[in-house]
Amino acid sequence: MEKINDEIMDKLKKVCICKAISKAKIKSAIADGADTLEKVQKATGAGTGGCGGNRCTPKILEILKEYDK
Ligand code: FES
Repeated sequence: MEKINDEIMDKLKKVCICKAISKAKIKSAIADGADTLEKVQKATGAGTGGCGGNRCTPKILEILKEYDK
């Protein structure tokens, strides 16, 4: 149950607000081999919105760190 809730939350949570990119999308890009900030941005389009990645870059780095463990 816990895991299902996490997945729903990941879909609802927007990492990149400008481009409306969810945490689920970021995670799936990482699962597909995007292991750096640049690769995640390229794969998802995060960081290309109006704020120039100011808001989403720290969040993407945070998610990448979770996978680094
Ligand atoms: S929040 Fe990602 S580019 Fe603005």
